[in-house]
Amino acid sequence: MEKKDYKFDTLAIHAGAEGKNPHNALNPPIFQTSTFVFDSIEHVDRVMSFESDDYVYTRGNNPTIRLFENRMSALENGNGAVAFSSGMAAISSTLFSLLEPGDNVVVNSTLYGSTFTVVTKLLAKYHVDYKAVDFTKLEALEQVIDDKTKVIYFETPCNPNLEIIDIKKVVDIAKARNIRVVVDNTFASPYFQNPLDLGVDIVLHSATKYICGHGDVVGGVVISKDTQYIQKLKFDYMCEFGGVMSPFNAWLLLRGLKTLGLRMRQHEQNAIDVAKFLDNHNIIKRVMYPGLKNFKGHSIAKEQMSGFGAMIAFEVEGGYEKAVEVVNNTKLAQLAVSLGDCETLTELPFAMTHRGYPEELLKEFGLTKNMVRISVGLENVEDIIEDINRSLG
Ligand SMILES: Cc1ncc(COP(=O)(O)O)c(C=O)c1O
Repeated sequence: MEKKDYKFDTLAIHAGAEGKNPHNALNPPIFQTSTFVFDSIEHVDRVMSFESDDYVYTRGNNPTIRLFENRMSALENGNGAVAFSSGMAAISSTLFSLLEPGDNVVVNSTLYGSTFTVVTKLLAKYHVDYKAVDFTKLEALEQVIDDKTKVIYFETPCNPNLEIIDIKKVVDIAKARNIRVVVDNTFASPYFQNPLDLGVDIVLHSATKYICGHGDVVGGVVISKDTQYIQKLKFDYMCEFGGVMSPFNAWLLLRGLKTLGLRMRQHEQNAIDVAKFLDNHNIIKRVMYPGLKNFKGHSIAKEQMSGFGAMIAFEVEGGYEKAVEVVNNTKLAQLAVSLGDCETLTELPFAMTHRGYPEELLKEFGLTKNMVRISVGLENVEDIIEDINRSLG
């Protein structure tokens, strides 16, 4: 199908399909095979010299995985994608593919906890330095960049405080210095934000979250307009580190993608109501949601996103004990580290997803102990609000 002829919801169902499925099946098969057979050594030569894009071995490629990659590439306006066994496999492989000993990576100070660990602990073992600064202060970002900086990496909206980074402005700073920009687009999903259109070099997702949408897959994906980079990432990193997605997970993600637009619209509608409710509640000190007009990043979010998503963070009066009480007392909302599912999920970043951050850094970066994060689900919004209201006491 010609991508330019269709809109997001249509592409999420059809993009990347090459002709009819075997036996005219509506759904693509799951190619549950580790290896592929060749007709002859001549066939081997054609495939291994990339003259043919036939398959070799599922750690390198597989038709079900390729369909997922092509669909994701279409949804993010890229020219190619690589699927991974998890979001972290995608993130670590991308960083290792772009950095060499002696280089440094500049990251936003608020990052998903495991990403922070890769940047601060694992890369350091290979003599790759890092600098963490608040990207909402662009002067601070400019100040820490030096001639060894090869990558600028951030999430927007950020996990867990929903801060919004001005993608275009960061890209301008990076391009002037020939630095690659990588954006983790997990919270927005490709439905609400397409960083490649704003000049970003590489966009990646924990596909475990909204792309899956049903809490039954762990997966990751990286997309870029640079096809040479995608080839390198696939064959020199994904294939060699071995963080391959399983064909079954690729198939489940293709199923999840069919309803991504539909789900995101409802997630967001529910989140707006929940955020407004929280904003008016007397024991809530601060609500962090890009869709609230009084939120710091609101105007940038409005500019660079087509919607505000469904992740909310808030701080309660009464400190950590009160935050614990709130998440322990909900009946409908469940306590879990993940997000983007049909079920409403809550968590305490301090005790859960961001536990790996040293306490003094949590303080410096404004990740407070009384912060509660909610992934607003698809249940009836009145039930969600009633549940939170009851738990706030
Ligand atoms: C923003 C973000 N990026 C990356 C990851 C890691 O993804 P995965 O758990 O699929 O490895 C997460 C996980 O929560 C996340 O929230």
